Amino acid sequence: MDLGLNGKVAIVTGSARGLGAATARRLAQEGAKVVITDINAELAEATAKALRGEGLAAHCVVGDITQGADVKRLVDETVAHFGGVHVLVNNAGAPRDKYLVKMSEDDWDFVMAVMLKGAFLATKAVMPHFIGQGWGRVINISSRAHLGNPTQANYSAAKAGLIGMARALSKEEGRYGVTCNCVAPGFMETEMVRALPTYETIKDNAIAAQPVKRVGQPEDIADAVAFLASERAGFISGEVLHVTGGRYG
Ligand SMILES: NC(=O)c1ccc[n+]([C@@H]2O[C@H](COP(=O)([O-])OP(=O)(O)OC[C@H]3O[C@@H](n4cnc5c(N)ncnc54)[C@H](O)[C@@H]3O)[C@@H](O)[C@H]2O)c1
Repeated sequence: MDLGLNGKVAIVTGSARGLGAATARRLAQEGAKVVITDINAELAEATAKALRGEGLAAHCVVGDITQGADVKRLVDETVAHFGGVHVLVNNAGAPRDKYLVKMSEDDWDFVMAVMLKGAFLATKAVMPHFIGQGWGRVINISSRAHLGNPTQANYSAAKAGLIGMARALSKEEGRYGVTCNCVAPGFMETEMVRALPTYETIKDNAIAAQPVKRVGQPEDIADAVAFLASERAGFISGEVLHVTGGRYG
């Protein structure tokens, strides 16, 4: 199936590693020109370089997705370098897991800023381009945690917020040929989850709860995002695609 992504320009936030890096690679393998953007400068540069080494079109813009000036520079540089922008994947994220009674105001604000404010700023910055060309794709990386996880009141709220945002924008922007959807990953093996002190327990619990008995891989998310970013998904908007090995709740 030709996804029709050849020549399209895609920004993937938080793409220095993990799900974002795998997604950027997949989009680039489909012919897209991808912008790797991340707060981790060294890793972002290395990932973009690795993609270019594979013969793929990749450019790196280092920045903090929570800062309006960085996001403006990201989109300006994308357009200057690749001549436009067609796809935005709001993937940047970071957890601050704690029981509510131990969760500080900073833990709450930090998670909201990276995931919700970052997605707001990036989407607002690309939308005039999407509207102007009558074509655009926004894909928010939510999580199965939007259904609620203990120790993740902040994270679950932000991930549910990304779904609400995509649904609102699907209604606002559909008339311009712009679709807005979410991918909700289950437990995926990335550096972020491997760093959790409870990694082994979470992994065992996830596999026990999943009908599909294996650990999710970044490429599982990348394939789902590539489909939603494609020409083939133009009649799908406001949806949440769970990529969880069949696990709900
Ligand atoms: N791995 C999982 O099991 C899983 C499950 C559900 C949802 N998710 C979501 O998928 C996304 C990617 O997760 P991952 O596992 O690849 O995590 P990861 O930590 O490997 O990657 C996240 C990237 O975001 C970057 N980032 C953080 N704050 C940033 C900021 N302010 N500005 C720019 N970049 C910033 C980090 O530097 C990192 O490279 C996150 O939104 C996460 O919440 C992951």
